[in-house]
Amino acid sequence: MFKTIEWTPDGVLMLDQRLLPLEEVYVTLADYREVATAIRDMLIRGAPAIGVAAAMGVAIGLREAARETTEEARAARFEDVCQHLAATRPTAVNLFWAIDRMRRKFASLGRLDWAERVAAMEQEAVAIHQEDVECCRRIGRHGQALIADNSGVLTHCNAGALATGGYGTALGVIRAAAENGKRLHVFADETRPYLQGARLTAWELHQLGVPVSVITDNMSGHFMARGEIQAVVVGADRIAANGDTANKIGTFMVAVLAAYHHIPFYVAAPFSTVDFTMSSGRGIPIEERNPREVTHLRETQLTPDGVGIRNPAFDVTPNHLITAIITDQGVARPPFVESLGRLHAL
Ligand code: MRU
Repeated sequence: MFKTIEWTPDGVLMLDQRLLPLEEVYVTLADYREVATAIRDMLIRGAPAIGVAAAMGVAIGLREAARETTEEARAARFEDVCQHLAATRPTAVNLFWAIDRMRRKFASLGRLDWAERVAAMEQEAVAIHQEDVECCRRIGRHGQALIADNSGVLTHCNAGALATGGYGTALGVIRAAAENGKRLHVFADETRPYLQGARLTAWELHQLGVPVSVITDNMSGHFMARGEIQAVVVGADRIAANGDTANKIGTFMVAVLAAYHHIPFYVAAPFSTVDFTMSSGRGIPIEERNPREVTHLRETQLTPDGVGIRNPAFDVTPNHLITAIITDQGVARPPFVESLGRLHAL
């Protein structure tokens, strides 16, 4: 089985997801700037995975900061490292959550010498990775109960092991249901423009032996209307306190179609994806990516020169279209302000 990301003594090992499914190439990044570029260029992607990568990037950056000659200069360099990694992708809250956790850890290490601080920060990054895998397994356990035997399940983008420390969130639910003996058929939206569904979700599920059909993004209504889809499960990049959910562009469209066909629409995410500082989804920053992702398919140009192009990477699904939010802390149902608030208080 592949590894999405791993801490090694030489740096951060990552599977280059840009090359999948045709090539399985691993790179080792020993400089925090390379980690930041890898996140921005989507060598690694998916909200929890970029959180893990950023934490490891901070740990690597601290080695460099430790070479400064004064305590003040080291602290300033450390903050530069954090800000550099935080400036990579704006939508997934996991990135900022992981960097803030590394900042808090660093602040707690004040009395240790620098070699000990560097070692403790590396351990913290590894702990964030391990906890993410455990978190996904708990999401899977909670969520699989919602999936009936003999179901068609639609997912959008890739919220699998590739998008997390391992196991996956939306795909974690699907995997856990399959591991419990449920017979499923997964519909993977291809997910234009970056094709995470066609390239990554299909690759993962095929390796796991879970039956999967890739469909283009404009086919889901057709299969819902024919009664071939019984549930939709997607991941999340940021969930507001009222349950509004930012996820890969096109998720909102799928949620509208699911509501029209009375099909349950589930969001699966670590509880840390809930951003309680956002009362609704209106404030969630939406990343706009390079127009080339729309105009080209690898080297092939698809659109005429000179036309306008828009490329928002995420959209926000309003809470009233969401049946339940499956987290590692439990399943939240509407009204989400109350149910998410209750889980927060646990
Ligand atoms: O642009 P990406 O590929 O990073 O977007 C990924 C998604 O939108 C996922 O659905 C989300 O991050 C959840 S991953 C468990």
